[in-house]
Amino acid sequence: MDHDFVRREQPRMLAELNEFLSIPSISALPDHAEDCRRAAQWLVDQLFRLGCPKVQLIEGEGHPVVWGESPHVPGAPTLLIYGHYDVQPVDPVEEWHSAPFTPSIRDGRIYARGAVDDKGQVFCLLKAYEASRGADGMPPINVRFIFEGEEECGGQVIFDLLAAEPDRVAVDAVLVADMSYYAPGWPAVYTALRGMCYAELHVRTLERDLHSGSYGGVAPNAIETLVRMLSKLKSGSGKIKIPKLYKSVEKPSKSELKGWDSLPFDEQEFLENEVTGKALTGLTDFSVFERTWALPTFEIHGIKGGFTGEGAKTVIPAAGMAKISLRLVPGLTLDFVKEQLEKAVANVAPDYADWELRFLHGGDPVQVEVSHPAFRILDRAFEEVVGRATVAVRAGGSIPIVPELGRGGAPILLTGIGLPDDGLHSPNEKLDLQQLWDGIEVFGRFFELLATE
Ligand code: BES
Ligand code: MN
Ligand code: MN
Repeated sequence: MDHDFVRREQPRMLAELNEFLSIPSISALPDHAEDCRRAAQWLVDQLFRLGCPKVQLIEGEGHPVVWGESPHVPGAPTLLIYGHYDVQPVDPVEEWHSAPFTPSIRDGRIYARGAVDDKGQVFCLLKAYEASRGADGMPPINVRFIFEGEEECGGQVIFDLLAAEPDRVAVDAVLVADMSYYAPGWPAVYTALRGMCYAELHVRTLERDLHSGSYGGVAPNAIETLVRMLSKLKSGSGKIKIPKLYKSVEKPSKSELKGWDSLPFDEQEFLENEVTGKALTGLTDFSVFERTWALPTFEIHGIKGGFTGEGAKTVIPAAGMAKISLRLVPGLTLDFVKEQLEKAVANVAPDYADWELRFLHGGDPVQVEVSHPAFRILDRAFEEVVGRATVAVRAGGSIPIVPELGRGGAPILLTGIGLPDDGLHSPNEKLDLQQLWDGIEVFGRFFELLATE
């Protein structure tokens, strides 16, 4: 690998990264469909420029998937690299110190939506590939790239593609760099991701909104009904009131819990610097790691309905809606949780309310064995470049396509170059540039070591 690459190519890389991060590829907002396409096209151009003889923009019902294959290196292993080019919405936009799609470098960090999740990390992998090529332009291993544009919004295009063409994941290893270090200086591999069950709960109690004076005291209020229902689905102490949910959860093994105990962790600092609230809530009999990695969650993301404009309007709302989700841990499946949630809502709904659960998207949780030799190779690469091998942790977050990436039987390396305070999905998302430069060396070295082991 070209060890001078990062130093020499920094200005060009920053210009390219700036270009990529400037594209507002927000997959959840229909108005940004063209921007998603532009981000996909940007990747297509990059892959061609990197010398990939096969590059495809694969269409479906939604944002396209980008596929690329490196020139064939006979006898070398094949690595599948996954990433996503779509990003989350930017609101509340007034809280950004610089515009979310005008990347801005301050104190060695680049601030932009997608800086770390996941465009910055996709960029890191592309540049690591570039750095690992020999003088003849040949990489040390066979690489397949798959980049989707619907990770953040729960789309089907990549699922349909892999269902129709399972050979695309017939590889020796899969690399997903869409997470972060455990802490500064502590690279991580992830042994589990939580799954997801996202739904809208619609409630209607009247045909139309009513005068709250004339009918207040007798007419059923839809928002009140909705929040009463929601409050019965989770107790104040954080217990989710869905039958059989906790019974199905697989407890982490003693040795896994012991591993977590040995990680450096300061709850007070976590509260102040990452959570930024006044207290941690939830099932306080369990540790923070157990609550965020090994237990299911139930969150209310937003409530819509009634009057929320300027000033006052005296009205009894006829309808309301809440966006909710559960995170699923090993032992739970999406199908099971959907069914149980439907039953739980039926139990808490009063007879006078019409209700409907609309499932938007979801995915099963994932568990990965980290015993395959590829994990030791990744450790070596991290050790050589940043001085420490990975620690095994779990993720609270989800990447719905990951189970499908493993269908060919290859080990899935879940890792990343982010830092815990990067603020993914939040205002002022950032990536530390040193993490990017180190990451390019780490993954470049990883490709090289894969070829020789
Ligand atoms: N990169 C994240 C997943 C992640 C977050 C992994 C934190 C590890 C730690 C990914 O882009 C993401 O945000 N996923 C969504 C998926 C959802 C929309 C189905 C998530 O977890 O909310
Ligand atoms: Mn991501
Ligand atoms: Mn994300």
